[in-house]
Amino acid sequence: MEEIMLPVVTSPAEMAAQAERWRKAGETIALVPTMGCLHEGHASLIRRARQKAGKVVVSIFVNPIQFGPNEDYASYPRDLKGDTALAAAEGADLIFAPEASALYGPDFQTTISVAKLTAGLCGASRPGHFNGVTTVVALLFHLVKPHLAVFGAKDYQQAAVIRRMNTDLFFGIEIDVAPIVREPSGLALSSRNSYLSPQERAEATVLFQSLRLAEGLVQAGERNAGKITAAMRGLIDGVASSSIDYIAIVDPDSLAPVEEIDREVQVLLAVRIGTTRLIDNGRIGR
Ligand code: PAF
Repeated sequence: MEEIMLPVVTSPAEMAAQAERWRKAGETIALVPTMGCLHEGHASLIRRARQKAGKVVVSIFVNPIQFGPNEDYASYPRDLKGDTALAAAEGADLIFAPEASALYGPDFQTTISVAKLTAGLCGASRPGHFNGVTTVVALLFHLVKPHLAVFGAKDYQQAAVIRRMNTDLFFGIEIDVAPIVREPSGLALSSRNSYLSPQERAEATVLFQSLRLAEGLVQAGERNAGKITAAMRGLIDGVASSSIDYIAIVDPDSLAPVEEIDREVQVLLAVRIGTTRLIDNGRIGR
């Protein structure tokens, strides 16, 4: 197959200048922010961006400041060549792949922080994580100057936090959140799935099975959130390699815990399979 070439910009100033030229020429710009190691989930985001904007920028940046000291920053999978090929095949116009030192100078001191929405769930188990996310996404918004930014729904809390930041800081960017892409087994696609052994990969489907269980219980008339999360916990605990970080049933917008399911709610969970931390979520109570 013939390889399609795609410009890879590493300089923030060059990125901003290109975005400015596009804007002056009346182009609409879509940004798909990623940490690379692109898979079909990312491809679906790029396709969505492609349909909605004239120019599509895919940022590839493993953002050091959103990883905790004992997390997988060093081992996070990196594949710029493969990513460039995938982004090109999906019709992206440009890859923005800055070095960490180019985005965060030696005296970098600024943090963007969203308060309430980051207090629980992944924010509680990964202190500082969302400050790292909002800070880098704000930087990307400034440099790429997108009209539209596309995020994946697997990171449900992240999407809520970014929407809040976008509103609070008057970025005026359309935030599009695309549905989770799953393997036929139900496992949500994630770059971190590459850490799983074949056996763990099979066991990791328990996250999706637990969401199906929650949905089934609600459809059968169960309204008590505690009983539903207990049933999910029972199912997941049956997998020896699993350890639950959290299971929560929350309001889809505020992410506040819900006790009685009298409307649509979001179920979110984070579970370790072996040493790999996976997240998933789904809407129930429709
Ligand atoms: O979801 C991700 O891949 C990252 O958190 C993001 C939004 C690219 C920021 O580094």
